[in-house]
Amino acid sequence: MKLSIIGTGNIGLVMALTLAQAGHEVIAVDCDVSKINQLNEGHTSIFEPGLSDLLKKTLRQKKMRFTNNLKLASENSEVFMMTVGTPAQQDSSADLSCLFKALTDLRHEPSSHQKLVILKSTIPPGTTAFLKTEFPEFHFIFNPEFIREGSALSDAEQPDRIVIGSENKDLISQIKILYKDFVKSDSQFLVMDSNSAELCKYAANAFLAARVSLINEFSQIADLCGANIEHISTAIGLDPRIGPAFLKSGIGFGGSCFPKDISAIQAKAQSFSLKTPLLEAIQQANQNQVDYFANKVLRYFKQHPRIEKRISIWGISFKPQTNDLRESPALKILNLFLDHQFKIQLHDPESLDSLSQILTKEQAHVLNLNSDPLQALEKSNALVILTEWPIYSQITLQKIKTHLASAVIFDGRNIFNPQEAQNLNFHYESVGRPL
Ligand code: UGA
Repeated sequence: MKLSIIGTGNIGLVMALTLAQAGHEVIAVDCDVSKINQLNEGHTSIFEPGLSDLLKKTLRQKKMRFTNNLKLASENSEVFMMTVGTPAQQDSSADLSCLFKALTDLRHEPSSHQKLVILKSTIPPGTTAFLKTEFPEFHFIFNPEFIREGSALSDAEQPDRIVIGSENKDLISQIKILYKDFVKSDSQFLVMDSNSAELCKYAANAFLAARVSLINEFSQIADLCGANIEHISTAIGLDPRIGPAFLKSGIGFGGSCFPKDISAIQAKAQSFSLKTPLLEAIQQANQNQVDYFANKVLRYFKQHPRIEKRISIWGISFKPQTNDLRESPALKILNLFLDHQFKIQLHDPESLDSLSQILTKEQAHVLNLNSDPLQALEKSNALVILTEWPIYSQITLQKIKTHLASAVIFDGRNIFNPQEAQNLNFHYESVGRPL
């Protein structure tokens, strides 16, 4: 199938490369000229396991191209896929301006008319129906994406379901052709009306975020009761009605999706004067968890006023295997520590460049970015673990002890064994686990 993908962010790039590898003729379009030049040279600033290699391989094989020439893309495509961002506006609702602009630009290319436009960007219920009336020259299908950063390529190649928001049989069969290599059976296609498909995406993210917030709230209760949240996650996860995923307590959820999607669907509900106390609570509990963990560190230094506030941080991305800092709870905690005049050494395997781009001059002055996790510990009076990159759990507590000035660890992702830390005389605090 000849296809243009409009928007080369995380989702657009992953979809373009995986669909090209599946044999489709893909053109990826973006209005950012320097980004297109970089991509054509095989470079991307997005860190995603396997992505850079797949980009180089796909270009070498001449399986796809990147362009900012919409006319060329339009003339050479039967189908368009919209993967532009829909970030939160000031009032929390979804900002659809990039999507409108992309569709308006496309409308100016007569060769695109009467063709299928697959909407992949997350959009509030009712948007596809509205676009059908605003842009009658296109045929729309809403087809949400469920891939995760950090495992985006395998998620795209092996989707557990493909939701199709359309009632038009011809359009549905076109989209099925697009994904035919990625599904094992026709039952993986879930066809429904576009309002349901749109709401499905928000519901999926809200349910997952709710699990994280609930287990985090229980981790605080566990701390107070001397219980171990990991035993609780294992035990409740074995109940088939609950299941084991998304029961890992930590410092709260982040990323470009959960926070903005929950806010956007809340805003949509509010537009119908509907109250959504649970959605509100998911966000509130998430912020509580960020503060809860940060306060463990602040409390320790308050109780030990003679100890200099010099700490090391491991991990700043919102989760491992990505350099995405959007809404990262680790970043919120870092900012809090900077406000409290901590001197900080920070390591992250992939996110130091993204971080240095958003630091103010004053912050850059007191924050030392270090590319070696052990060197980042030198002269520090505590190690604070904020993202569970696999390399951190491979470093032994003995080794950490020899590099730190004081044997103190605040483990926001529960990567070390509390008993082992205690045996080595660490002051060790984690989340929801007794010493
Ligand atoms: C999420 C969804 O999982 C995807 O299905 C969806 O396609 C995507 O949003 C999107 O809307 O585009 P993602 O944001 O990449 O994917 O990351 P997740 O793996 O869902 O993690 C989100 C946050 O929850 C992270 O900060 C992570 O550390 C946290 N989390 C997750 C926990 O604290 N505990 C858990 O047990 C799981």
